Amino acid sequence: MEKTQTAAGIKKLKGVRKISMLTAYDSLFAKILDETGIDIILVGDSLGNVALGYKNTVPVTLMEMVIHTQAVARVVQNSMIVADLPFGTFQQGVEHALCSAVDLIKAGANAVKLEGAEYTEAVKAIVKAGIPVVGHLGFTPQSVNQTGFKCKVQSEKLKAKAKKLEQAGCFAVVLEMVDEKIAAQITKALKIPTIGIGSGSHCDGQVLVTADLLGLYENPPKFVKKRSNLRNIIKSALIEFKESI
Ligand code: KIV
Repeated sequence: MEKTQTAAGIKKLKGVRKISMLTAYDSLFAKILDETGIDIILVGDSLGNVALGYKNTVPVTLMEMVIHTQAVARVVQNSMIVADLPFGTFQQGVEHALCSAVDLIKAGANAVKLEGAEYTEAVKAIVKAGIPVVGHLGFTPQSVNQTGFKCKVQSEKLKAKAKKLEQAGCFAVVLEMVDEKIAAQITKALKIPTIGIGSGSHCDGQVLVTADLLGLYENPPKFVKKRSNLRNIIKSALIEFKESI
């Protein structure tokens, strides 16, 4: 069945209305997100921290991304599915990057996302093969061993990097932890939509890790507005069950 939301459709939303993107790694959450009309479901490599118990996203493998993308794709009818190319699956050359992207598309993704502006030849090859690509700039979690953990990215160079990704054929770019003013300037300078996370309200869309938004963590990042306190709600129900038997 044709999806309601496509890469071309997402691009056309720039300047019309805000784009919504949230993470899911399994069928249960993916189905709920799809039912709410979220534009894009991101099978992010945050899978590593959120669901697999890794300390960061670096250890996530392509096979893990494939399995979780399949789980999401089995139930999603309308939202566009974007899957992350994990660390080490696009850096070794254009052909390797293309093969990795193809594996995620065969698993059911409608597009892939990759971090940084250093691999534009890979982006071009993936787009040429008919696979839409989302870029990811600012704080790029796969470089944590080089950059350390989250800090605001203020570099003026980001605009040039974003332009490079647009020229390579990306249909959108995620801006993570980018200074609000710089994110606004990039949003104005690009024809493709920017999707912000911790980068202020001027981006064309917003993305969050769903577990943060729902209050499943005690201490989510500061920029996240908790919309629920699911951790406490779940715990109360579990304790109530335990004490009722
Ligand atoms: O993996 C992920 O969840 C992401 C978002 C934080 C944008 O890349």
